[in-house]
Amino acid sequence: MCQPTTWLLGGLFGLMWVIPVLMTPTTLAQCKSLKTLETKLTDRRRNFKHNFPINYTIRVHYEEIFKLCNISRLRVRVVDLEEGDLQGVWLLVNQEVLKRILRVLPERHPSYKYTSDLEDLFRKIQQVFPPQSDEREPPERIEEIYNRVKEPNSKGWRFVTPKSLLDNCYRTMHCLFKNCFPSEDGEQDYCSTLHWRKGRKRQLQETRGGR
Ligand SMILES: *[C@@H]1O[C@H](CO)[C@@H](O)[C@H](O)[C@H]1NC(C)=O
Ligand SMILES: *[C@@H]1O[C@H](CO)[C@@H](O)[C@H](O)[C@H]1NC(C)=O
Repeated sequence: MCQPTTWLLGGLFGLMWVIPVLMTPTTLAQCKSLKTLETKLTDRRRNFKHNFPINYTIRVHYEEIFKLCNISRLRVRVVDLEEGDLQGVWLLVNQEVLKRILRVLPERHPSYKYTSDLEDLFRKIQQVFPPQSDEREPPERIEEIYNRVKEPNSKGWRFVTPKSLLDNCYRTMHCLFKNCFPSEDGEQDYCSTLHWRKGRKRQLQETRGGR
């Protein structure tokens, strides 16, 4: 009678051994720091909306607006695109965004510390990013985004609220690092804007205390 159960248990333990092997240490470290960021970002409403004047906007490069629709568009249009390419863009864009927000904040501003904490978190995330292989060059379109983001005299500017930039950051993070954010039913498509509309109620709960 016990036999099948023992066997089953053995199988389960076997699986538990396999999973950490499949998830490389980098991924585990990455997920850990991304989850810390996720928790920190639940406070973005207070820090990037309530602490700012109504409709306050900052000037960013076109490319610093990196949303779910950008990801789906790049996935469709860019040949040989790898998930790592998009993750790299996510990292770069959001680091730039935080620099821009910090630049308009005096050190005593109530959101200053929060923003520089976020910057530190991103630095940590960067450290656990798997290195890009030397043999492969990212697709041209991705290189182009990198260059545009780094171009100080870009002509393409837009004015957006800091909160909307961090909303983009939060959503695209879930889309690009899905395996770090398993959902209870395993069916949620973080890459669909619909998910975030449907998930609004849940999100409101998440940001509770921040409003
Ligand atoms: C802020 O923006 C909203 C939507 O664009 C607008 O309806 C509202 O009047 C603006 N408020 C102020 C104080 O400018
Ligand atoms: C995302 O799309 C917007 C237009 O919808 C564009 O202005 C922006 O440059 C795109 N961002 C990237 C990183 O491609």
